[in-house]
Amino acid sequence: MMVQLKYTISLDQITTLAYNILKFATLKLQTQFIKTMEAERYVLANFKMNKNLFEVKKWAEEFLALLYKGKKLKLKVGCAPTFIYIKALKEMVIGTDLLVGAQNMYFEEKGAFTGEVSPNQLKDISVDFVIIGHSERRNIFGENDELISKKFLSALKHNILPILCIGETKEEREKGKTEEVLIRQISILSKVRDEMKDKKVVIAYEPVWAIGTGIPATKDKIKEAVELIKTEASKFIKNFSVLYGGSIDEKVAEEIKDICDGGLVGTASLDPHKFYKIAQNFDI
Ligand code: 13P
Repeated sequence: MMVQLKYTISLDQITTLAYNILKFATLKLQTQFIKTMEAERYVLANFKMNKNLFEVKKWAEEFLALLYKGKKLKLKVGCAPTFIYIKALKEMVIGTDLLVGAQNMYFEEKGAFTGEVSPNQLKDISVDFVIIGHSERRNIFGENDELISKKFLSALKHNILPILCIGETKEEREKGKTEEVLIRQISILSKVRDEMKDKKVVIAYEPVWAIGTGIPATKDKIKEAVELIKTEASKFIKNFSVLYGGSIDEKVAEEIKDICDGGLVGTASLDPHKFYKIAQNFDI
């Protein structure tokens, strides 16, 4: 059936139509550009000093079964076991989507540093990421901003994705110093040299008072901190994601999925089913 135009289109109308088509096309392009600039999303397990070799392998077996049974996740998932199990886990999950990381590293390449592990040694066993400056390293093992900044820069230099942990203590929050502490801890990024500014960095906001307590930070507090971190970090680097860590469970993940780029999970990650559910909830 033919539809006949009942009126003629004026030049003005054609111009408006052309303008609208152009505007729509530009908008679409802009949205696509913003999409490609979106931060990558991660859900990472930090096993801390938990699980033996048998348990790490069993966890991986169960987690991978869940990962490949369900709908493919768009975000990246990873696991950081204790140093001595990294190699076995890496060999076990080769060719899968599970990243394997370390919980710590020293900044020097080699030498007389008893008990330490170098970036080269981590690269040697194909480690994908390394957690730097976790609050347990800061508070129990006395790591300060200077040491953490050397470790962070060394990971970047050796092309190991650094997961830089920052966060205030309960006392600092109560004294109204949260902003000051986060800005100080993040100022490490100002030392990133120009040629490394495009490298990927993950920042984990982990308020110390929420870690291992079963009481996560509220959505408002996380939002406020993540926004501050994004503003500060973008002054120094371009390619970064901001995760939250501190008593994450599947409910927390669902609640905060829109305000951060994923999570760094401790206690709940030890159970592959809980960890998978958390990853699913963060996967938007
Ligand atoms: P929890 O999830 O046990 O609070 O631990 C968080 C953490 O420290 C991850 O690095």
